[in-house]
Amino acid sequence: KTTALIMAGGRGERFWPMSRKSMPKQFLSLTGTDQTMIQSTVERILPLVAMEDIYIATNREYRELIRKQLPEIPEANILCEPMAKNTAPCIGWGAVTIRKKYGDAMMIVLPSDHLVQQQTLFRRVLKNAVRTAEETGGLVTLGISPKTPDTGYGYIQYDTEEGTGFESAFRVKRFVEKPNLETAKAYLASGEYLWNSGMFIWKASAILKEMEEKLPGNYELLEKIEKAIGTEAEEETVESAFAQMQSISIDYGVMEKAENVYVLPSSFGWDDVGSWLAVGRINPGNDMGNVIKGDIVSVNTARCIVQGGKKMIAMVGMEDTIVVDTEDALLVCAKDSAGDIKKVLEVLRAVNRTE
Ligand code: GDD
Ligand code: MG
Repeated sequence: KTTALIMAGGRGERFWPMSRKSMPKQFLSLTGTDQTMIQSTVERILPLVAMEDIYIATNREYRELIRKQLPEIPEANILCEPMAKNTAPCIGWGAVTIRKKYGDAMMIVLPSDHLVQQQTLFRRVLKNAVRTAEETGGLVTLGISPKTPDTGYGYIQYDTEEGTGFESAFRVKRFVEKPNLETAKAYLASGEYLWNSGMFIWKASAILKEMEEKLPGNYELLEKIEKAIGTEAEEETVESAFAQMQSISIDYGVMEKAENVYVLPSSFGWDDVGSWLAVGRINPGNDMGNVIKGDIVSVNTARCIVQGGKKMIAMVGMEDTIVVDTEDALLVCAKDSAGDIKKVLEVLRAVNRTE
């Protein structure tokens, strides 16, 4: 049995002001299709996983958004976290849910907000990843050839000598989550590292065993949830377990410490759509290198990303600037500061203004 767990509890803060607390980026269409990112994520795996075996882990706040955008997903498969505790607890909850229901099953764990351009190739890689996870009993991830020393990714050093016998799966020597810039530069130069795509393939039993070892406190709480599933105490148990859960990502909590990790070097047109810069990467620019959406007039303007709202926007003599207009907020941001948009939200929170 192959199941999927889609993680959809993130806030997409670097896409403010389009991505909002009430409507984060996974529920938006940012890549020029008419589907939202989470709808594309489901569609992408449907030929491999039955709708009834797809689980979505999200914050309680987004239950209605999911029901509206993905009405075919059974309601019982929407795991609504009472509070955000990062990805290790959400994956753990998914894993015990699957263990309780099927005894054990393969889990394909996917972010809800990534772009994959070559669907057929993607599914072929996933099939190989599933085989690798089945045969090795290990933790499998899909690795992407790094293009820049970006510090927002996990870096995977893999052993090109030690193949596994399965098509293009390699043993991982080292997994380093979000290294500093200097380290990332060295990794890139060495040619031995891949970016972690954040997509994982493993048996529920395999990831739970790792959690029991590496995150024993969380594992104990997950067992309590598992016992309560389907009983009257379920909601209350989830609530109190999450309140006590250590907030930690799967990358720091498990992947960096695990030993039986495998990677499939992959290239299926992947982008994690991490900031507004991705919109510039993904969409073709005009002859001045501007990526423009909406009613925009540009004069002497180059390499800008402009997302209009209801008003016309005129750009004059601008370079390397991001402009995003929405109903109630306007962003004007230098391209090389796109990663700092999160800081706007910190400021807004500090003065109690709506994000
Ligand atoms: N349900 C739930 N609950 N989902 C969450 C939570 C949570 O508390 N926090 C994050 N998510 C979801 C996000 O919506 C996203 O789809 C996914 O989990 C990954 O979280 P991010 O916050 O986007 O992680 P990241 O981008 O910093 O790092 C991860 O992805 C990189 C590739 O994009 C890591 O796995 C890195 O190693 C990897 O390189
Ligand atoms: Mg991300």
